[in-house]
Amino acid sequence: MLETFSVEFSGVLFVVSSIKAKVEVKDLTRVERIGAHSHIRGLGLNDLLEARLNSEGMVGQEEARRAAGMICEMIKEGKIAGRAVLIAGQPGTGKTAIAMAMAQSLGHDTPFTSISASEIFSLEMSRTEALTHAFRRSIGVRIKEEAEVIEGEVVEIQIDRPVCGSGSKVGKLTMKTTEMETIYDLGAKMIESLTKEKVQEGDVIHIDKLTGRISKLGRSFSRARDFDATAANTRFVSCPEGELQKHKEVVHTVSLHEIDVINSRHQGFLALFSGETGEIKPEVRDQIDAKIAEWCLEKKAELVPGVLFIDEVHMLDLECFSFLNRALENKMAPILVMATNRGITKVRGTNYKSPHGMPLDLLDRLLIITTRPYTNDEIRLILSIRCEEEDVKMESAALDVLAKISAETSLRYGIQLITTASIICYRRNDEAVSVSDVERVYSLFVDEARSTQFLREYQNDFLGDENVLDGDMVMATQ
Ligand SMILES: Nc1ncnc2c1ncn2[C@@H]1O[C@H](COP(=O)(O)OP(=O)(O)O)[C@@H](O)[C@H]1O
Ligand SMILES: [Mg+2]
Repeated sequence: MLETFSVEFSGVLFVVSSIKAKVEVKDLTRVERIGAHSHIRGLGLNDLLEARLNSEGMVGQEEARRAAGMICEMIKEGKIAGRAVLIAGQPGTGKTAIAMAMAQSLGHDTPFTSISASEIFSLEMSRTEALTHAFRRSIGVRIKEEAEVIEGEVVEIQIDRPVCGSGSKVGKLTMKTTEMETIYDLGAKMIESLTKEKVQEGDVIHIDKLTGRISKLGRSFSRARDFDATAANTRFVSCPEGELQKHKEVVHTVSLHEIDVINSRHQGFLALFSGETGEIKPEVRDQIDAKIAEWCLEKKAELVPGVLFIDEVHMLDLECFSFLNRALENKMAPILVMATNRGITKVRGTNYKSPHGMPLDLLDRLLIITTRPYTNDEIRLILSIRCEEEDVKMESAALDVLAKISAETSLRYGIQLITTASIICYRRNDEAVSVSDVERVYSLFVDEARSTQFLREYQNDFLGDENVLDGDMVMATQ
């Protein structure tokens, strides 16, 4: 009994160690997680806003990408408020992908809020309040502050400890730029922050005179040879030029929503972390808007209109749509981008049928971008980009087969098969996914059409409503 156990035990150990070795190798090559749209890094447009066939992770869909690029230009100029765009097309034609690409190409400075329409339906807040949150989260306020700073290289730090052991420490800090050198007297607080930041001689530091905050910019080049062993993340910078004391303009960007929360809660900004933002009174918002308008006039602040992206917008109901109608007329409205895969269908909560499941008066205000299904070649390119993203090597013939499968079923199904096929290939100890691996996963995992076919055949053996399949089929939400 004991013997078999030990044999088994060592067997298990062996397996564990071999897996570990392989995992470690993988960790070195890629650390971040891979999401459905992580291969997309931008819209892939040239200077004339024309779409390149395959660029920044985007393939095909040229017209929609070009249209999205024009919207981005409009947003970057920041002058026009309250425009709305609808991206409409079949499931899996890259609507969400285009919105993500817009976010990437606008950069970090422009607020981009992405929500799914169903997030609005929460028990804690009314729908209109949730929408207002989302709207205000998409508008940034750039606040400029003049700050007086001391920036230079540390020549010497001298700290005098009181002889009796108690009482406050005092000291001297000598700093220089390429042109001057000055000695500053240090109080106990500054000494504390210098010790906390582990500032040494030869560091280039930055002291905010108002708050006394010290930040290390790096080590001076002239001291690069002081130590043989330096940490890999040590940054070498050149000694600053000019005066030691400088006026610097510091810019913070916060969203209107953040300002709302900070001003409406007792616990202030902590509510942002706990998420207990609750409903915010309209009076508070009015006051904030007035204050910001004043700051904009005084050139202390600047509005940065961003983008609110609502995916699956057909999930909103009439109340939300009428709110959107009105909210878009506000001067502080962001650019609204929506996406839907619905055709002519009922507006949620009513019996009226309307294109895209949206009321006609709202549709009338929209710029509509349509996406079209991909050709076989485009699908093959997207799949090969995904293979690269998921670190999977695939033989060319296997990619052909996978592209054909995706064209007949769906692009998403095809993308799902990449990783699953690679697991089979890994088990075979082979480098690249072959046609047989793809065939194997194709038979292991059925697509939507085959699953429906299966249900049709064995309908009577399943529990549930009878003959649903023969009547109206519930459309999948994608
Ligand atoms: N033009 C494209 N270029 C690169 N990848 C794409 C493109 N279109 C779609 N994809 C990818 O295909 C998958 C499905 O597209 P998605 O945007 O989710 O479709 P939709 O939102 O229209 O239903 C996603 O992983 C997406 O990143
Ligand atoms: Mg989508």
